Parts: sequence; C-alpha cells; structure tokens
Amino acid sequence: MIDVAAEYVKDVEKIAPCPEVALDVLSMAHAPDCSIPKLSEKIEQDPGLTANMLQMANSAYFGHMKKITSVKDIIVRMGVDAVKIISITSASVGLLRSPQAAYALGRGELWRHSFAVAILSNIIARYAKARDTSAIYTAGLLHDVGKVILDRPLQLESYNRSEYDEQEELLAVERRLLHTDHAEVGMALLEKWGLPEAVAVPVGLHHDMAQPQSRRLGSKIIYLADHLVHLTEYDAGSAGDFFFDVLAYERLKGELPDVPNFECNMRLIIEEFVDKYHDAVAVFSL
Ligand SMILES: [Fe+2]
Ligand SMILES: [Fe+2]
Repeated sequence: MIDVAAEYVKDVEKIAPCPEVALDVLSMAHAPDCSIPKLSEKIEQDPGLTANMLQMANSAYFGHMKKITSVKDIIVRMGVDAVKIISITSASVGLLRSPQAAYALGRGELWRHSFAVAILSNIIARYAKARDTSAIYTAGLLHDVGKVILDRPLQLESYNRSEYDEQEELLAVERRLLHTDHAEVGMALLEKWGLPEAVAVPVGLHHDMAQPQSRRLGSKIIYLADHLVHLTEYDAGSAGDFFFDVLAYERLKGELPDVPNFECNMRLIIEEFVDKYHDAVAVFSL
C-alpha cells in the first residue's frame, strides 16, 4: 500500500504545485536547529508569503495593538513559536485552497477545515503540555493534504462524493478505486518534502487509531481534533459561526483517544477554538 502512495506523490510538482520558498519555509521551521534570521530571510524572498504573514500577525488572532510591519518585527515582538505558526500557515494556504471536486469540496472548503483542525490541535496540545506544538499544528493543517493529490485520480475513476449517500466510508472508496488512501498519500508527500516524523506520522494515522504509533500524543491529538471539528457545524457563508454538537460528542466519546487534560477542559478548549478560528479565518478570506 505504501508503494502505491509513493507512486502518487512521484510527480507531485505537476499535481500540487507548492512554491519552492513555501516548501523551504515548511521544512526550515521544523528543523531542530531552526535559525530564525535565516527563516525570515527566506520568507522575504516571497512577497506574497510576506504579505500573508504580516496580515496574519496583525489580525485579531494574535491581538496586537501596535502594527507589525516586517518579518523581523514578527520575530522580535511575537516570538519564535508565533513566527513558525504564521509562516507554516501562510506557506500552506496556496496548496489547500483549491477546490477538490471528487471530494465535493468547493474553493476554500478544504482550507477552512484544515485550518480549523490546526487551530484546535494547537490548543489541545497546549493543554496536554505537548513538547512540539508547532509540529502538531502543522500536522493538523496538512492532515488532509492527500486529498489534493488524490482528487484527480478519483475524478478519472468518475468518482464524485456528492453523488453517493456517504454510506461507504471515504477511505474504503479510496482504497477500492486507487489502492491507497488520502492519509497514506499525505504522509508519503510530507516525507518526500523532508518534514519530520512528528508531522508526517500523525497525518498518516489520522483515520487509524489501531497502529502502535497511534498511541503517540501527536497522533491522538490530530485524530481527536479532526473528529471534533466534524462535530462543529458552521455556516459557510459567514465562515465562522460554530455550533458544537455536544450530544454527538457524547455518542462518539468512547471511540476517541484519551488526551491528557482534554475532557476536564473541553468547554474552555472549544470556546478558545471558536474565538481563535473566527478571528483567524477572516485573514485568509478566499
Ligand atoms: Fe482525512
Ligand atoms: Fe479532516
């Protein structure tokens, strides 16, 4: 199965073009010896990326009073973790915002879902006192990136999710038609890009809690956050009015992984998530 996934990402540049600067930023931000001056130098090579970052840094999400006007400013005033989160987010938006017809996702829908999972994962990770919260954030942001790769092959199989009554699980459909699934392909892509295991593994396991590596905190958080986001319905028009389905959560609870400090803080976590998502998503109005 893994080999099939590798085949799909072989010519990925043609299917999912990710600008070179954005790719470098993604891997630089996750290197253990990440040099912030070098990272900002890289970011400044791409005016679009720089503009995105400044916009996000000045948004209500980060709640700063004084205007931030340069990448250096972001680093000095907001710290390394904020720089990583902002650069990772800005580097991923171009990749995730296109429509994915086979999955019945319109323009911006995959992006909004991915961004929601990233923000929620990050908050859950902070409560769980996870060590590498930015790796968890990135895994959340890119967990469904395999859909970008598999959209075209699924279309060639004349598959369109909206025509089905969703009785058949999406992963089962992918495996039946393509002999792989979007989680596996996503992981193969991130490995190809040189992102660390802490990012790639939770992506590969975000629909599978049965593997030994699924017991790692990062994997559990992504799995949990993805399910929780599916329980929050929002009005696509206003892109931010969330409703959290508590009853559905109670029904699902037994199947969700146990993440430290989550259940006892769930209310606070969901509230913070709704607030942050609302502020952040407005920055990238698509
Ligand atoms: Fe998924
Ligand atoms: Fe998802």
